[in-house]
Amino acid sequence: MSSNPDTEPHESGTPSLGGAGPRHVAIIMDGNGRWAQARGRPRLFGHHAGAKRVREVVESCPGLGIDYLTIFAFSTENWKRTQTEVAGLMSLFRRYISKEMAALATKNVRVRFIGDRLRLDAKLVKLMDKLEVETEGNDGTHLTVALNYGGRDEVARATKRLARDVAAGQLNPEDIDEETLPRYLDTHVLPDPDLVIRTSGEARISNFLLWQSAYSEYEFIDTLWPDFTAVELGRLCERFGRRERRFGTVTT
Ligand code: FPP
Repeated sequence: MSSNPDTEPHESGTPSLGGAGPRHVAIIMDGNGRWAQARGRPRLFGHHAGAKRVREVVESCPGLGIDYLTIFAFSTENWKRTQTEVAGLMSLFRRYISKEMAALATKNVRVRFIGDRLRLDAKLVKLMDKLEVETEGNDGTHLTVALNYGGRDEVARATKRLARDVAAGQLNPEDIDEETLPRYLDTHVLPDPDLVIRTSGEARISNFLLWQSAYSEYEFIDTLWPDFTAVELGRLCERFGRRERRFGTVTT
C-alpha cells in the first residue's frame, strides 16, 4: 500500500519515516479481551499478549521520528471490570514495570505516568515512582503510561489545584486563560498529541486526553491491540504526514 520506501520495514522489522510524521502519538490499546475470546482464552491472556506488543511499538519510535508516545493502560472506568480482571491487570502492571519497562530504561526511554495514583496500591506506586526517577536522565523516547487515568478526572484534579492557588492568592482569576489550565494537567510537560490511534474498531475516545487532543488527528483501526505492529504504526504515521492540519485556519 505504501509508495514511500522509507516506511517499509527494515531488516529488523522496524519501519522508519522522515520528518513529516507525528511527533507525539497517543494510543488507546483496545481489543485485548476480544483477541483472547477469539482464541477461547480468558481476558487476562489477551492483556498479557497486549503488554508484549508495547516493547516493539516503543522501540520503533526513534525510527519513525516519534519523540513522545502516550499509551492508555487503565482508565478510571476500568475499575468496574470484575475483581479478577482488575487484580490481574494490577499484577501485570507491577510485573511489567519492574521487568519490561526497566529494560526499556536502558534504551534511553524516559518513562512517566499520568493519572490519579491515590487509588493505586502502594507497591505499584512505588515501582512507578522508582522508574520515573531511574529514567529521568534519558532523552530518547518519552513514554507516558496513563494508569488510572480519565480525562475528566484529570481536568477536575487540575481545577482543584488551580482553585487552591487562587485561594492562596498566587493566581488572579482574571489571568486565567487557555494557557493556564494545561499547566495544572498531568501532561503539563508534554506537547499535545498530534495523532491519536485507537485499535479494535471502536470509534470513540473514552475519556482519553480530552483537553490535549482538541486538534489531534484520529485513526480508528480494526486491528486488535495484540496484533498491532511497528509496521502498522509506520503506515499510520506516513498517512498522518499526508494530512493537512489547519488548526481552525484556512489554506490558500
Ligand atoms: C483494552 O482492551 C485494554 C485494557 C483495558 C488494558 C490495556 C493494557 C494493556 C495493553 C497491557 C499492559 C500495558 C502496559 C503498559 C503494561 P479490552 O479489555 O477493553 O478489550 P475488549 O474491548 O476486546 O474487551
